[in-house]
Amino acid sequence: RTLRIGLIPGDGIGKEVIPAGRRVLEALPAYLNLKFDFVDLKAGFETFEQTGAALPDRTVDVLKSDCDGALFGAVSSPTQAVKGYSSPIVALRKKLDLYANVRPVKTVMNAPKPIDMVIVRENTEDLYVKQEKTYDGPDGKVAEAIKRISDRASFRIASMAGDIALRRQKIRDSGASSIHRSPLVTITHKSNVLSQTDGLFREASKRALSDAKYSGVAVEEQIVDSMVYKLFRQPEDYDVIVAPNLYGDILSDGAAALVGSLGLVPSANVGEGFAIGEPCHGSAPDIMGKNIANPIATLRSAALMLEFLDEPAAAAKIYAAVDANLEEGKLLSPDLGGHATTDQVVEDILKRL
Ligand code: NAI
Ligand code: MG
Repeated sequence: RTLRIGLIPGDGIGKEVIPAGRRVLEALPAYLNLKFDFVDLKAGFETFEQTGAALPDRTVDVLKSDCDGALFGAVSSPTQAVKGYSSPIVALRKKLDLYANVRPVKTVMNAPKPIDMVIVRENTEDLYVKQEKTYDGPDGKVAEAIKRISDRASFRIASMAGDIALRRQKIRDSGASSIHRSPLVTITHKSNVLSQTDGLFREASKRALSDAKYSGVAVEEQIVDSMVYKLFRQPEDYDVIVAPNLYGDILSDGAAALVGSLGLVPSANVGEGFAIGEPCHGSAPDIMGKNIANPIATLRSAALMLEFLDEPAAAAKIYAAVDANLEEGKLLSPDLGGHATTDQVVEDILKRL
């Protein structure tokens, strides 16, 4: 099978870690029978400055018509609004209907407290529909935003969480994980306050997960604020967490802090038959151009993309090579306390493949 993969480095260290992702995909062993055709594509702030568009039409067209998946590095976003600029990854999620953002958070095998969870965040609605307005109220300026929750989007994201819980159980059954637990999906919301919007998310999620195919998956719910508390106190209790867009965004960045560096944490944006792997970190202008960015978040994102493109064996190969590098701990990048360059980390992982 040949997979056609769009490569979108973006800005800053995106330009250093995406080539690392490419090298690792190209180095997968031949017996997996997997080949790659790569297409270089543009997006980001630099692209915006050069062309006036942060997400050129060609990038969207090629991804839509010609690719099975993609790797996205990171983009720099100005903190103050710049006329005409908006985040290309947010636009891509919308244009390709990548309705799920999936973020695994995992410690290495020999960690004293093994954490191995996945946060599944709804990616298309909630407050991020960005319907905001500002007006003058009787007591001064007022700003409002719409929080949109639909039955369809909530149902499909919870179904995906259920599917992921089943797949993870399969992987544990195969002996490829040292963790023993039974599948669990935790539905996160705030329906005690937002009874209509979060109430609908809760109701649709529970209905999705009551399907007979998920009968082996335990389902619980957790109000989002106490979820944060529990996530930090007992992270090892969690398996799959499903959340609406905003809570999922916050929970997934918070959970990343549980395993040390942002440079380790991958994500995937997933739609029907399409997945974009994306490291969770940003463009890291403070370390760009120094060849010290940790490539592991991107390598794991490439593996995660392969999981959703139905290539679990190839994905497992990459995860294992990365874990072996981390467990040995000899060639680590500076964010993990080591002295290795990006290239040295990549070469060590290539050897292990
Ligand atoms: P950041 O994730 O770029 O950096 C935060 C800190 O983590 C920095 O000290 C950085 O050096 C370090 N770091 C991040 N990735 C690393 C890696 N792979 N290896 C080693 N160290 C790493 O977040 P920050 O500084 O808040 O944002 C910088 C720019 O990135 C901004 O323009 C922001 O808008 C953008 N950004 C883009 C994201 C995306 O494209 N998805 C996500 C987050 C931020
Ligand atoms: Mg975020």
